[in-house]
Amino acid sequence: MNQATTENRVTGHRTAALLDALERAWGNGEVDVLDTVLAESFVRHGRTSLQTRDELKASIIDMRRAFPDLTMTVERVIEGTDEVALYWTSNGTLTDTYLGLPATGRTYSVSGATFSRFDGDVVAEESVIYDRRGKYSSLGVPLSGANEVDVDSAAGPDAVRAMHRTMVTGVTVVATDSEGEARGLAVNAFASVSLEPPLILICVQKNSSTYSHLIASKYFGVSVLAADQMGVARVFATKQERKFDQVEWHRGELGVPLLDGATSTMEVELQDTLHASTHTIFIGRVKAVAGTNAPPLVYTGGQFFDGGQLVPAEDLTA
Ligand SMILES: Cc1cc2nc3c(=O)[nH]c(=O)nc-3n(C[C@H](O)[C@H](O)[C@H](O)COP(=O)(O)O)c2cc1C
Repeated sequence: MNQATTENRVTGHRTAALLDALERAWGNGEVDVLDTVLAESFVRHGRTSLQTRDELKASIIDMRRAFPDLTMTVERVIEGTDEVALYWTSNGTLTDTYLGLPATGRTYSVSGATFSRFDGDVVAEESVIYDRRGKYSSLGVPLSGANEVDVDSAAGPDAVRAMHRTMVTGVTVVATDSEGEARGLAVNAFASVSLEPPLILICVQKNSSTYSHLIASKYFGVSVLAADQMGVARVFATKQERKFDQVEWHRGELGVPLLDGATSTMEVELQDTLHASTHTIFIGRVKAVAGTNAPPLVYTGGQFFDGGQLVPAEDLTA
């Protein structure tokens, strides 16, 4: 942490010690020095979470790992009787994965404030506020409204899962080329966004092994599986290495891996990503399409069905 000393009028010895410790912790990674200025029972209040002293120390180490050029400058200090407010700006380049975010190589600059309350010589608790949305946006992973959901008040996961099981979808394999190696996963969270321009979206969990390749790619392929490709769906719904060794596939016009025998395929240019909690929504522009007219594989209630055997609904209601 760099202190902009010209603007600071630090009078209290506790504030001076706090600033020194923060500088050493954030600037040099000497996190243990925080033990001298933060109470053992210290609590840090974030927007939705609480951190203990040890958790704060661990998060500083983790941030410095992901943002090796991290700087934190205190621009203004306001001291009260037992409180101090620090107004700061932090900068860093995301060169390694961080809290599920991929290493985008992008730099953020965010301003915030920390309000600390002393108990004796040490800080008992503090609250921190900063422009979290702006920070993620500049790192190339803009937050969607989904991050604002209060998880406790949302419907329970069993009820939501049961609802999802009532949906009927096709099954796609989303794939990309990573340094010559084809990588992909089964995805049914696929939707058309618009026809003009031709935009589609897919939703991929961030702990997928394909994720880091997908987010770094310029193009990805979407193969809508045919009814006789349940085995293919099963291969791509696992985490095994070299999934493409087990299937017949080819490269499309843009070089993306596409599955032979799929009902339809599209090659998509990645346009945007929206970071939504455990998942990321990828929005892409369709650059090329092809099709075989083979009946599609259908997925509902956790089971696969033959899309060639569907009965038109008019026949049932007539
Ligand atoms: C029918 C079906 C649909 C799926 N849809 C999605 C999806 O939309 N998004 C997703 O992230 N995972 C989805 N999955 C799960 C992934 O395919 C699965 O987690 C896979 O193991 C990920 O592989 P990877 O970690 O090698 O990338 C689906 C699985 C199945 C069987």
